[in-house]
Amino acid sequence: MPRRTLVTNIGELVTNDPAPGREGGPLGIVRDAAVLLDGGLVTWVGPSSSGAAGDAYRDAPPEIVDAGGRAVIPGFVDSHTHLVFGGDRADEFTARMAGQAYEAGGIRSTVAATRAASDDELRDRLAGFVAELHAQGTTTFEVKSGYGLSVADEQRLVRLAREVTDEVTFLGAHVVPFEFREDPAFGEPGSPEASARAADAYVDLVVGDMLDACAPHARWVDAFCERGAFTPEQSRRVLEAGAAAGLGIRVHGNQLGPGGGVRLAVELGAASVDHCTHLDDADVAALAASGTVATLLPGVEFSTRQPYPDARRLIDAGVTVALASDCNPGSSFTSSLPFCIAVAVRDMGMTPAEALWASTAGGAVALRRADVGAIRPGARADLVELDAPSHVHLAYRPGVPLVRRVWAAGELVAG
Ligand code: NIG
Ligand code: FE
Repeated sequence: MPRRTLVTNIGELVTNDPAPGREGGPLGIVRDAAVLLDGGLVTWVGPSSSGAAGDAYRDAPPEIVDAGGRAVIPGFVDSHTHLVFGGDRADEFTARMAGQAYEAGGIRSTVAATRAASDDELRDRLAGFVAELHAQGTTTFEVKSGYGLSVADEQRLVRLAREVTDEVTFLGAHVVPFEFREDPAFGEPGSPEASARAADAYVDLVVGDMLDACAPHARWVDAFCERGAFTPEQSRRVLEAGAAAGLGIRVHGNQLGPGGGVRLAVELGAASVDHCTHLDDADVAALAASGTVATLLPGVEFSTRQPYPDARRLIDAGVTVALASDCNPGSSFTSSLPFCIAVAVRDMGMTPAEALWASTAGGAVALRRADVGAIRPGARADLVELDAPSHVHLAYRPGVPLVRRVWAAGELVAG
């Protein structure tokens, strides 16, 4: 049975639930606060000193947890990860730090390692990542497929992802796999014509048998709309087919250069378009007029040594911004949202408050989830106690493990 817990003596409680008398605008900060967790949900939020919490548990006293005046924030919502894969690409990272450019094609080496891994190997790896996420305060996370790229392998990855999260994304359209690219039936391998034909043929498979095999295990469909991956036309085919199969739309767009990914995402009503590093004014205006979240992934620009996306420009234009890790072995092998917050504040023009909101409530909007990302009665009891008096320390003390205790659905999962 889920525990009843009263977390009390909280110096700064970030609720993401603004109300009269609370501070910090959208953060809805309550000082000297307490939160009651019951049945996996938050059931009461109020002052810790007044004794008012007593009314909330008169019949069955909860376990009391003293936060010692520290800050408590909502669990992080990481709306973009690629956690089911084999191997790693440390050598590629080393070469990149010595000056080599990041290319989408590196994905194919992880595809080979993933195909070679057994279910249990991938499962063990996933379990390790889930522990890593919890230890860093993440209590909701999305996981994409995309390192299988055959019907059987993609289905294997969405099934495995579904064992650890409800937020599973089918990313068959990650890159064109080796066996299509090298097939001479499409022309001279590597030539532009053969590459285009191979990509079209692969998209036929993605929207056909692969989608049929994966859709029952997924909530979302995604496409990597980028040079070196899929054109806007090919991405559109995949996303429309996914939507027709009942999946919500997410898009990887405008990561490596300008392109049509953002406009396509907005046109199709995607929940989120992720990366948004290279945007023109029309992209920003389109996002601002839409319900599509711009999800920024600072770990990518950090690990590929590229210019960061301009969060300030997006927020000032009225775009809803989320921060996510994009944890994957190629472009961003970090699962740490505190790290992403620190980079976003240091280099992307976000305030500490905006970065915290974007990695909690913003991630929840990107996943269209009303039950996570905030500490309010009725929300899932996902809380993080920081070893700090204020959420500002997440950016102010980069690299310091400030996550002290973590509750997910009312259960202590770290600390
Ligand atoms: O989000 N953009 C596509 N996928 C990943 C990269 C994956 C890889 O390099 O293995 C990303 O950056
Ligand atoms: Fe990604």
